[in-house]
Amino acid sequence: MAIPAVYIQELVARNDIYDVISRYVSLQRAGRLYKGLCPFHSERTPSFMVYPETQSYYCFGCGAGGDVIKFTMEMNSLSYIEAVRMLAQQCGMPMPDEDDGQARLKARILEMNKLAARYFHNCLKSDAGRDARKYLRDRQLSDKTIINFGLGYAPQGWQGLCDHLRAKGFTDNEIVTAYLGARNKKGGIYDIFRDRIMFPIIDLRGNVIAFGGRRMGDEGGPKYLNSGDTPVFKKSNGLFALNLAKKSGRDSFILAEGYMDVISLHQAGFSNAVATLGTALTQQQARLIGDYAKKVIICYDSDEAGQKATRRAMDIFSKEDITVQVLAMEGAKDPDEYIKKYGRQSFELLLEGANSALDFSLLKLKKQYDISNAEQRVEYLTKACDVLAGLTNPIQQDVYCSRLANETGTDKTSIKLQLERTAARRRRANNRKKEQELLHSGVGSKIKVDYRQKGNTMPKAYAQQQIICALVRDNSLYSSIAQRLQPENFTDGDMRRVYIRVCDMLENNIPATYTTLSGRISDSAANALAGIFARNADIIITGKDVQMHIENLLTAKLSQSEASEKTLDEMTERLKLLKEKKK
Ligand code: UTP
Ligand code: MN
Repeated sequence: MAIPAVYIQELVARNDIYDVISRYVSLQRAGRLYKGLCPFHSERTPSFMVYPETQSYYCFGCGAGGDVIKFTMEMNSLSYIEAVRMLAQQCGMPMPDEDDGQARLKARILEMNKLAARYFHNCLKSDAGRDARKYLRDRQLSDKTIINFGLGYAPQGWQGLCDHLRAKGFTDNEIVTAYLGARNKKGGIYDIFRDRIMFPIIDLRGNVIAFGGRRMGDEGGPKYLNSGDTPVFKKSNGLFALNLAKKSGRDSFILAEGYMDVISLHQAGFSNAVATLGTALTQQQARLIGDYAKKVIICYDSDEAGQKATRRAMDIFSKEDITVQVLAMEGAKDPDEYIKKYGRQSFELLLEGANSALDFSLLKLKKQYDISNAEQRVEYLTKACDVLAGLTNPIQQDVYCSRLANETGTDKTSIKLQLERTAARRRRANNRKKEQELLHSGVGSKIKVDYRQKGNTMPKAYAQQQIICALVRDNSLYSSIAQRLQPENFTDGDMRRVYIRVCDMLENNIPATYTTLSGRISDSAANALAGIFARNADIIITGKDVQMHIENLLTAKLSQSEASEKTLDEMTERLKLLKEKKK
């Protein structure tokens, strides 16, 4: 869907980049820009910059950059359209595509889902559901639980639900769009969920938005089949039982891996349990949990995969304002099995003893070493310092140092010294990495230069960037630039494509700002552009400068050594000095 540029402009005007980003990142003012810790990579000194003037951001550490829409996309793992929709909602703008047709389709799908859930539930109670009832009984689910979760049974056969929905006046197309039916080769439709226990997924307003279906035997396709994305459902946003967990009124949530874990937990009284829907945790789901809970206890399966997923989830939660704990479960593969084996009280004790995320990492580490052996003890301490060097809170660091000292019978001061060293080494490595990245992100490194010339020439790459930067900042330079430069004069692919796009927009009287542009150029170009704005944040590029750059681009040959040895930052710095001298 193409969204009109004027709409995007309005949207961006109403969602100030500082306001939006400061919801996620704590920003400090630094002159005309804001600085903070980059949310896209982990760092301890801020290299993430927000530029109110161009309404863009750029991280000098990891090279992430863009406008408010790009930020919203990256931060929440959304598509472009979804990010636009989210921002539109936040500032109360209607979506351009939310016409009656779209809204009506959504309402129809929700209606179908409701009917389907009721149909599945009735099937469970009917003769056809005898085996399914036995299955649920064998898994020790009470009638109350079945009703609480609205569980059902999708019967065998290929047409049951489709026929039911058709009889209620829904078209084949609608049924397919709702992910309840699929097309066969002949163009007819058939039930997607067959002979499965059905778990409705319910949103906070009580709408049935999707289903998960479990097969009962060992055969018949995947163990769980889940609805695909539909206009009312996005798997990566959904959480199973969020509706119930929210009502539990507790300020901590339990995050489990599976449907059955959640159901078991609720039945045992832990009504604050939720699960993702067969996918790894996304930033959005983490945020959603953070919206309703102050603390989350991760209770994934105890197998290798579950532990790996735990570490991933810890990382994701670390970007949210939420306390994270990890449950160490032994003797059972998942919470469902644990509760059945050891009872609810035992699980309660596990919950109380849940470790902080940091403890979890340290414990994992400790298990790998025999600390009665001097050599291994040193190794353990070194690795532990690696973990602790990531802490930003000095008090916390101190507490853990004491603990390590006690644990290993080592002098605390020497542990602190080691920690200092690790932290310093990490800082140096970070700086080096930053330099390297800047060097490689510099367009100069991409350009092949085949002859050299003496003299004080600037790399062509730099000229191209300055021209584009000036032009996007000030569209009135267009005619003077277009008179002299053809797209072919831009040797850098990204800059050439940006130039073509800008020309195209301006010819059609669409203002070319960073914002209107970034939706129309590739991600890499948008990123490069954000970097260029960032590097030029406090540099004024005059019309005269632009002419000089054009001249440079058209005539001057570029010196090899200049192109390869200077980072763009250095170039920027040098130009600034030259300009100051002129004044
Ligand atoms: P599990 O295999 O651990 O299932 O997958 P479970 O929830 O413990 O269920 P039971 O106890 O074996 O019946 C965990 C979650 O991964 C997703 C489902 O969301 C499931 O609850 N999954 C698993 C799928 O989406 N598809 C599959 O084929 C398997
Ligand atoms: Mn499981």
